[in-house]
Amino acid sequence: MDGQLAVIGTGGMGEALLRGFLRAEVVTPQRVTCTAARESRVAELADTHGVATTTDNVAAIGSADVVLLAVKPQVLPGVLAEAAEAFHAGQTVISVAAGVTIARLTEAIAAPVDVVRVMTNTPAQVDAAMSVVAGAPGVAEEAMARTEELLATVGEVVRLPEDRIDVMAAMAGSGPAYLFLVVEALIEAGVELGLTRDQATRFAVQTLYGSGRLLAETGTHPALLREAVTSPGGSTAAGLRELEAGGVRAAVRAAVAAALARNRELGAGS
Ligand SMILES: NC(=O)c1ccc[n+]([C@@H]2O[C@H](COP(=O)([O-])OP(=O)(O)OC[C@H]3O[C@@H](n4cnc5c(N)ncnc54)[C@H](OP(=O)(O)O)[C@@H]3O)[C@@H](O)[C@H]2O)c1
Repeated sequence: MDGQLAVIGTGGMGEALLRGFLRAEVVTPQRVTCTAARESRVAELADTHGVATTTDNVAAIGSADVVLLAVKPQVLPGVLAEAAEAFHAGQTVISVAAGVTIARLTEAIAAPVDVVRVMTNTPAQVDAAMSVVAGAPGVAEEAMARTEELLATVGEVVRLPEDRIDVMAAMAGSGPAYLFLVVEALIEAGVELGLTRDQATRFAVQTLYGSGRLLAETGTHPALLREAVTSPGGSTAAGLRELEAGGVRAAVRAAVAAALARNRELGAGS
């Protein structure tokens, strides 16, 4: 990536992305400025990554070619208002704020910048994110390509029409939490039946990891992989019958629908 990058709001997500960018060397620390609210946080970021840091969003945005907005959605309107004069033509402005639409971003930024909306998830911390990108109407192809190049350093990237982003967020943005809940339940079940907590945790975590790799690396449909471990009249069939009776499919569908509704409420309120 050419030019200067400003990461505005370098918390959990901003730092996970920054780590990926630096590790893949798509930017050097000399070309990055990170902001945060607290002096102690910016000092920590400077120490850890060797990047320039400041609590002054206006200065960071003013001198950047690419601006990554990674503050919380409710903080974003204030940041955009404060930096209204600092945005300038030719910048690529990438937002990862959940629920904040491209229309809201372009309305808040008067300058003719290229706005790209991104949704990603926490496996970005281990370069296994699922990210989607959507451009504002008329966005420069170069801005889209830059964004994809950056996001590709932390995992998979797909272009999506904006009206699908909230659905992806409800499914894959929140998805790790759903899967972690299942892993917790597996661990508890193992402990109840006599395994130590360490044993049960190791078995459940490795099972999720291995199952994920099997799905990703073979490209086989999950129903076929499930059938492959389910012998007629066997123990897995007995277990699956209980999961179906417990309404797992309906619960997952309801969870994604509830997360989608909440994303839209939060987006509307930001
Ligand atoms: N976490 C996820 O799974 C996930 C997934 C997809 C998208 N996102 C999006 O990523 C964004 C950040 O989420 P997060 O989980 O990384 O939150 P977070 O850890 O709380 O990070 C927010 C950062 O913003 C900084 N900040 C607060 N007010 C600021 C201001 N006025 N100017 C500059 N920086 C300011 C905070 O600074 P201090 O550290 O000094 O307080 C903090 O470093 C959100 O918009 C969220 O929707 C998150």
